[in-house]
Amino acid sequence: MPTTPQTPITLSRIALGMWRLDSWKLTPPQRLELVRQALDLGITTIDHADIYGSEQPFGEMLALAPSLRDQMQIVTKCGIVLRQQPSTLSVSHYNTSRAHIISSLENSLRQLRTDYVDLLLIHRPDVLMQADEVADAFNTLQQAGKVRQFGVSNFSPAQFDLLASRCELVTNQVELSPLHLTPLHDGTLDQCQQRGIAPMIWSALAGGRLFNESSERAQRVRTTLNALAAEYGTSVSTIVYAWLLQHPSKPVVLTGSGRLPVMQEALAALHLTLSREHWFAIWCASSGTPVP
Ligand SMILES: NC(=O)c1ccc[n+]([C@@H]2O[C@H](COP(=O)([O-])OP(=O)(O)OC[C@H]3O[C@@H](n4cnc5c(N)ncnc54)[C@H](OP(=O)(O)O)[C@@H]3O)[C@@H](O)[C@H]2O)c1
Repeated sequence: MPTTPQTPITLSRIALGMWRLDSWKLTPPQRLELVRQALDLGITTIDHADIYGSEQPFGEMLALAPSLRDQMQIVTKCGIVLRQQPSTLSVSHYNTSRAHIISSLENSLRQLRTDYVDLLLIHRPDVLMQADEVADAFNTLQQAGKVRQFGVSNFSPAQFDLLASRCELVTNQVELSPLHLTPLHDGTLDQCQQRGIAPMIWSALAGGRLFNESSERAQRVRTTLNALAAEYGTSVSTIVYAWLLQHPSKPVVLTGSGRLPVMQEALAALHLTLSREHWFAIWCASSGTPVP
């Protein structure tokens, strides 16, 4: 069915993160091949931010095959302003003013070479955020057909409630992995379940640290993940993605690798259910304690 900029969006359960795009060192045709492969596999949600440096090379790729645009959901973020010069008074900071949100999004559209993004997130909570002003910016962008839906990232439940009292938010993108359990316990995922919105999960594999960090905790987690991978006859990554996907808030899980096998391991998790005992075995290995 043809979509319009106002059509509600459906994200794929596994999404492709573009933060590390630069490090993949791909030519535009190689980027195109990667995105085609992801789309063919059903990974249709692509995650950017204005500060990743990914929008311009992605847009260059999209210009090679503009018909792919409507087959994907493009997510981007705004609100972080990186330090411009090496001087005492130049610091990275947050800006969620109406003018900044609108100009950042318009710049993202130019870089991405598209007329609209499917989802725009406020990247980090801004202590100077004026909720009414953000809502006004969102409304302007939605009315202009430039953004379909809105969300936040790294917001506490209270920060989410504040902004959600002024506008509709469809996600909170947060860090969660067997090396970072915080959103399971600070109300973040409870809030998503209560509101019926899917959180988006970043650094599901702890940015790769799951495989090489030498801390006692990481070693404990690896031992458990290796045993579960053997038990279920699958890879450690698939076990981790399954562990995340199984949360009742029904998360969208980002994969941060441009390698096809990693995407396939993530997708395999859609068909794997861990027993409750095994789910908690990962939680216990991470926490370093049995459940109370
Ligand atoms: N909202 C936010 O504040 C925020 C913050 C950070 C990230 N994000 C989003 O989340 C996405 C995912 O984050 P992420 O990149 O940190 O995710 P991730 O999937 O946890 O980490 C990706 C890293 O793990 C490595 N890796 C994957 N499988 C591996 C294996 N079997 N052995 C060793 N290393 C392995 C990858 O290396 P290879 O490249 O070699 O496969 C890559 O360097 C980002 O692209 C971005 O879109 C959002």
